[in-house]
Amino acid sequence: MLVTFDAMKNNPFPTNYYLGEEFFCDRETETQILVSGLLSGNSMTLTAIRRMGKTGLIHHVLEKLKSEMLPIYLDILPTNDKTAFVKELSTAIVNAVPEKSPIGKKIWDFIKTLRPVISFDPLTGNPQVSITGTQNDADKNIDALLKFLNNLDQKVVIAVDEFQQILAYPEKNTDAWLRSIIQTLTNVVFIFSGSQRHLITELFSDSRRPFYRSTQILHFGSIVKDSYKQFIIEKFEEAERSISPEVVEDALEWASVHTYYVQLICNRLFANAPKEVTEKDLNREIIKILEEQEIVFFQYRELLTKPQWNLLMAIGLEEKVGSPTSMGFINKYKLGSSASVLRSLQSLEQKEMIYSDPGENGQKQYQVYDVLLKRWLQYKFQVHEI
Ligand SMILES: Nc1ncnc2c1ncn2[C@@H]1O[C@H](COP(=O)(O)OP(=O)(O)O)[C@@H](O)[C@H]1O
Ligand SMILES: [Mg+2]
Repeated sequence: MLVTFDAMKNNPFPTNYYLGEEFFCDRETETQILVSGLLSGNSMTLTAIRRMGKTGLIHHVLEKLKSEMLPIYLDILPTNDKTAFVKELSTAIVNAVPEKSPIGKKIWDFIKTLRPVISFDPLTGNPQVSITGTQNDADKNIDALLKFLNNLDQKVVIAVDEFQQILAYPEKNTDAWLRSIIQTLTNVVFIFSGSQRHLITELFSDSRRPFYRSTQILHFGSIVKDSYKQFIIEKFEEAERSISPEVVEDALEWASVHTYYVQLICNRLFANAPKEVTEKDLNREIIKILEEQEIVFFQYRELLTKPQWNLLMAIGLEEKVGSPTSMGFINKYKLGSSASVLRSLQSLEQKEMIYSDPGENGQKQYQVYDVLLKRWLQYKFQVHEI
């Protein structure tokens, strides 16, 4: 969603939409790789953990490309099958161009030939296109839609966000079928983006699967800390406010430089702190955020088994754990046998409560996925040694 900025009313730190280039920090290398790849006709795959900034980066890249390509964005997380995918894609296509423009008119005329049911989104007023029909029709319709786009006078870029969702469709090999269509397109390139790293890895690197080597893969992590620091200070200064570099550093540290959490704490500081933001404001806003989440976090405890909860807590308290089955770690937190720890570890990973990233020396490092949960565990259960 693209939102226009009103300096009087808006907060320069959005937490769930893209506000435009001016409010987007860094990602220059990633943007450059994506823009030049797409312009040279390569489809690209984007992976990062949840809330690291994939959707923001996609919008940023589409914004940069819009003078040269027709940008189309769709999020397929809500789709459960191929028919829903066609609906999402066709809706995204008709929403990408104003109906009155020459291309818009062509697109509408074409969509109408697919006998769609058109409704209007009650919130945004934007049209939504459902193309009903059999499964066979769904295949033919996507095929026709993409071929139609391929024949426009303009190059097209289609970003499919949360792409791993196609693995959940009942139609098996949706990826194979999509791949076969994509291969024939010369004027349409794709950005595939997903957060479940293992699924994306499975789709794109497993040689038995059809997407193997079909796109250039870009995995990214945190924004460089100094760059984010500079950006935050600037945004406060532009609003004639001040925040000291130390406070910003502490905020970044607290958020583990994980984009969404950095945006969240800055958003709250901007909204609630006085003109000159201090350490005291930071601490107050942090506590407020953690307390808002508390009910949810206590529910997690109900939903997990005791060994899972204990392991989650231990990893949270340690921040990063290299060898969760080592005797030292197990004894420190009284976690039982290493077999039981291993089982809990797999289960927490599968629930995406923890994730592992290769550390500096290539050794896996386990961390709690949700930074707020991690900070809350530390806030609540850390035993302070005197
Ligand atoms: N480079 C950036 N600078 C500023 N804000 C960003 C940046 N990247 C992402 N964001 C913001 O952070 C929030 C979370 O990012 P998002 O793109 O939704 O993450 P993801 O898609 O990986 O889950 C959004 O509000 C987004 O606008
Ligand atoms: Mg996203």
